[in-house]
Amino acid sequence: MKKFNAAIVGFGAVGPIHQKAVEESKYANLYAICDNDPKRLEGCNSDVKLYSDFKQVLADSNIHVIHICTPHYLHVPMAEEALKHGKHVVLEKPVAMSKDELSTLIKEYEKNTQKVCVMLQNRTNNSIVKMAELIKNDKSLGKMLGIAGFLTWHRTPEYYMHDDWRGKWKTEGGGLVINQAVHIVDLLNLLGGKIKSVTASMSNKSLPGVIEVEDTADAFFEFENQMRGCLYCTNAYPPSSPFRIEINFENALLRYADNRLYKITDDNAQVLAFDNTTLYGKSYWGSGHMRAVDDFYTSLAADKGDYISLEDSIHSTNVMLAMYESAKENKKIFL
Ligand SMILES: NC(=O)c1ccc[n+]([C@@H]2O[C@H](COP(=O)([O-])OP(=O)(O)OC[C@H]3O[C@@H](n4cnc5c(N)ncnc54)[C@H](O)[C@@H]3O)[C@@H](O)[C@H]2O)c1
Repeated sequence: MKKFNAAIVGFGAVGPIHQKAVEESKYANLYAICDNDPKRLEGCNSDVKLYSDFKQVLADSNIHVIHICTPHYLHVPMAEEALKHGKHVVLEKPVAMSKDELSTLIKEYEKNTQKVCVMLQNRTNNSIVKMAELIKNDKSLGKMLGIAGFLTWHRTPEYYMHDDWRGKWKTEGGGLVINQAVHIVDLLNLLGGKIKSVTASMSNKSLPGVIEVEDTADAFFEFENQMRGCLYCTNAYPPSSPFRIEINFENALLRYADNRLYKITDDNAQVLAFDNTTLYGKSYWGSGHMRAVDDFYTSLAADKGDYISLEDSIHSTNVMLAMYESAKENKKIFL
């Protein structure tokens, strides 16, 4: 059986989750870990090559797949270099910090044959998969009337001060929206239909003087199917709980909350799905890394396209970037 050698670049909070996912995937082999901070490599398995410079990863011809788990400002430059060196890429979200960066990456991707998997792993949660299936097949729900998303998380001053790149336009590219809400924006676009316009506002409610960027945002979306959507998200809430999505239909409400899918009608409430229960990392990150990474390696082995690809992520990345443009220019942005 062919196994693909993986290198994880960036071994901070999320790098170890990629390690677990690679170790659990039958078509992947953890070959190298790279971090330019030696402390982050302390305690790593000695069977694995340890690199301190990304150039060593690029130069190692045994490496087939590079997982980019570094700060946002390094995503596109590192993905571009990886593709130029013939490597497949697993790219942590966000895909890019700006439209220019996004088009740079797409251009490089189109020149090559390697694949890029984007870590919008919540798409693979059992409840989200079930929700998508019901939207497609369950005619008894009736017409979809509206979709709403809520994310109430907590980020402390210490969280931002611990890592120098966080909370800054130049290195994080924004705050709550590009880092935390990016997942829920992606899911609203996926489940509601394609978003065609964005009207958003942003503010810094709880961390003025600590971060340059937003900790709170809301948005109004119009979809190509004439449906409407609303989003409220903040990092100013006391605990971080799993985010919620509600979809109102003529005959029922589908609610994703508590890592479960509920179907609610006038006289009944049922739980239709639970998310995967094996959790690594924080519960509110969702547990989809394992499945998303495994889907990618399985697709590499079978030469199939059944994974969260760069192409699949472009529209929701543009929606996320349009939220910034709308908030900055105080106007509706058409995609
Ligand atoms: N998909 C998710 O649910 C999820 C969850 C958490 C984080 N993330 C994303 O993962 C990425 C990393 O986030 P994090 O929280 O792990 O950040 P982090 O700051 O904890 O880790 C980043 C690591 O990258 C290393 N690094 C920086 N520059 C480097 C370079 N030039 N070469 C090699 N290593 C370098 C740092 O030393 C650090 O160890 C971000 O894009 C973040 O948005 C995604």
